[in-house]
Amino acid sequence: MRFDGKRILVTGAGKGIGRATAIDLVRRGATVVALSRSADDLADADATRAAARQALPIDLLVNCAGTTDLAAALDTTVESFDHLMAVNCRAPLIVAQEVARDLLARNRPGAIVNVSSVASFVGFADHAAYCASKGALDALTRVLANEWGRRGIRVNGVHPVVTLTPMAVKAWSDPEKSGPMKSRIPLGRFVEPDEVAGAIAYLLSDEAAMVNGIDLPVDGGFLIN
Ligand SMILES: NC(=O)c1ccc[n+]([C@@H]2O[C@H](COP(=O)([O-])OP(=O)(O)OC[C@H]3O[C@@H](n4cnc5c(N)ncnc54)[C@H](OP(=O)(O)O)[C@@H]3O)[C@@H](O)[C@H]2O)c1
Repeated sequence: MRFDGKRILVTGAGKGIGRATAIDLVRRGATVVALSRSADDLADADATRAAARQALPIDLLVNCAGTTDLAAALDTTVESFDHLMAVNCRAPLIVAQEVARDLLARNRPGAIVNVSSVASFVGFADHAAYCASKGALDALTRVLANEWGRRGIRVNGVHPVVTLTPMAVKAWSDPEKSGPMKSRIPLGRFVEPDEVAGAIAYLLSDEAAMVNGIDLPVDGGFLIN
């Protein structure tokens, strides 16, 4: 899968899956515009839109930035819920709107990958706001795939299980949690960031020319249990 001559915007490219994806896409010939929080905060809608506009023109988009906040459902605050919805769902919409508007104006085809999670399918304890934000992101992926697929822009989601990044350390460092989690993964281990990057590259590539609106798990079989 090669991306020579393509400009690809990757959000959350500062670390973790986004960083691995940006590096992978550069190796595959792309020009990558890497967005990270040091420049803009995706919880701020106006800053997000301005950052997306600055990156144009863009051929392909990876909405990877995301955040989490652990709390029991009873203790989940309005502030935390709104923050996760803003960063994990509203920001991907805003960035995708700017990229799609520009692609349509230039009459160019495109592809977008939203980085979701198996947490959109599974009700993990202490992840109420996170699970809700990723479920909302999946709904968004399907609507965009329907509306924009008709105009040459494919939109898909990838759904990693625990992936060894700074975010995973925050959520899964406790062996009491990580042990049972790992035992539910038939392939017996957590995911490496490069393995998510490979799935993202596939969904962006022409190899996936007829793949639109799907949820692609990168989970070693976790979801079949
Ligand atoms: N790791 C996992 O186990 C796992 C599993 C399933 C899905 N995911 C999803 O994969 C994506 C990447 O996660 P990761 O594990 O690579 O996380 P990570 O290591 O914490 O990296 C997250 C990236 O998102 C950026 N970000 C977070 N909040 C932001 C904000 N308010 N504004 C702008 N940028 C912001 C961070 O920017 P800074 O560099 O400036 O902090 C960072 O570059 C997320 O959408 C996550 O939900 C992760």
